[in-house]
Amino acid sequence: MTSDHESDKVALAFSGGLDTTVCVPLLKEEYGYDEVIGVTVDVGQPEAEFDEAEATAAALNLEHYVVDAQSAFADLCLDAVRANADYQGYPLGTALARPVIAQAILEVAEEHDCAAIAHGCTGKGNDQLRFEAVWRQSPLEVIAPVRELGLTREWENEYAAERELPVEGGNEGAWSIDTNLWSRSVEGDDLEDPGYVPPEDIYEWTAAPGNAETELVELEFENGYPVAVDGEAMDSVALVEHLNERAGAHGIGRTDVMEDRMLGLKVRENYEHPAATVLLTAHEALEGLVLTQEERSFKQQIDQQWSQKAYQGLIDAPLVGALEGFVDETQTRVTGTVTVKLEGGQCRAVARESEYAVYSEEAASFNTETVDGIEQADATGVAKYHGYQGRLANSVIDGVARAGTEK
Ligand code: ARG
Repeated sequence: MTSDHESDKVALAFSGGLDTTVCVPLLKEEYGYDEVIGVTVDVGQPEAEFDEAEATAAALNLEHYVVDAQSAFADLCLDAVRANADYQGYPLGTALARPVIAQAILEVAEEHDCAAIAHGCTGKGNDQLRFEAVWRQSPLEVIAPVRELGLTREWENEYAAERELPVEGGNEGAWSIDTNLWSRSVEGDDLEDPGYVPPEDIYEWTAAPGNAETELVELEFENGYPVAVDGEAMDSVALVEHLNERAGAHGIGRTDVMEDRMLGLKVRENYEHPAATVLLTAHEALEGLVLTQEERSFKQQIDQQWSQKAYQGLIDAPLVGALEGFVDETQTRVTGTVTVKLEGGQCRAVARESEYAVYSEEAASFNTETVDGIEQADATGVAKYHGYQGRLANSVIDGVARAGTEK
């Protein structure tokens, strides 16, 4: 133990991949910690990723903890639905997961009296910022070995080979993949070129569109939260898993975006997110039925700000609390059902019902004369005034122009 650490322990966000694996010896050799504990947080990654983390931890003799944060994460994803959250077409799976993961690791670090907390992110991406925004609220030292030591993949591979670190296999193929309950992202290698057409085999959650038989799904919402599918109540995790599978079979929820990262880099990203697409589509359709036009248009600004903060990993910001005040207020009426049609890669709302529907069959119908004391002819005055200011402005402009040519 070096003298300037209060304890000799550091907690490391650990996946068992190359970056976090090389961090284990580096935290000892370069940062002087005697003991490293690895923490993997379950936000719905595939089983194989936990197997890889366990196996790698065992081979490294690393004390390793797995924390289940699936429900906390799924609940946050459903909060995101209430805010129709997306960033440039991406429903924010990785972004939403990071604060949940960071918080869970911080709790483990505190329980084990760690003096520091570390991640294996590079200095180019968003995740370093999202993790540290949470960790820097604590007094623990924050360490980012890959960024601070300027490591490259090539260097890491050589270092791992020299030290005989267990880095074979697992998720080290051509693409860099991040998977959780809400989205699966695929980036890197050829895919970085915006002109490269992604091959079908980058997709794992979504089948090629057009092979499944069209189906209807009925979603029930309560206060803006989805609570049941086809009449069957489900908790947040089960509901998202169910829809990922069901809509994934139709090839729903693929996006290919030029993403503007926080540091200013523009990076091409491919995503799969069938459940998110279905829930966001249905939720917006229900808002369309129950909210007034002015609430809907103002809420777009709220939703956009919410999404921006979520992308930045700053869902704890006071602004988000304030935005959620507006979201909560509007969502008290977002209760009802929406039926969506899953068909050939598309999800469309085809029916909606709510006791809060701002809809009067009588008022909208062409067959009723007087409704609420208003009759058709009452629109005449409105029609006379409609566009009046523009007509006036145009005639003034014409008049000035004519006066000019007559001089
Ligand atoms: N660009 C996305 C984000 O910042 C996802 C990045 C996921 N990482 C990956 N290796 N595919 O939220």
